[in-house]
Amino acid sequence: MAVLKVVDRDGIEHEVEAQPGLKVMEVLRELEYGVAAICGGMCSCATCHVYVDPEWAGKLPAPMSDEKDLLSELTHFEGRSRLSCQMDFTPALDGLKVTIAPDE
Ligand code: FES
Repeated sequence: MAVLKVVDRDGIEHEVEAQPGLKVMEVLRELEYGVAAICGGMCSCATCHVYVDPEWAGKLPAPMSDEKDLLSELTHFEGRSRLSCQMDFTPALDGLKVTIAPDE
């Protein structure tokens, strides 16, 4: 198991055990304070929106065009925005910190 750090919508940071190989969204949707992930990871709902901690932003593969397109339509879009369903939680991301974005 690896660790995922999650800042919830109240600003509280949690350390969560996470299985490498899952999508980050698959970890977050199991949490009471996590994401809704309504479309189940089809890159169409944006309810899995998170902000990646600046320290980690450069360690992630760049988003594909469909992810970028959907993110750019969001009210709460920022430079660190990602759709967690498009993020593979690889072993190299042990300790990754994300903040759950506000509801749209
Ligand atoms: S779960 Fe719907 S876009 Fe990520």
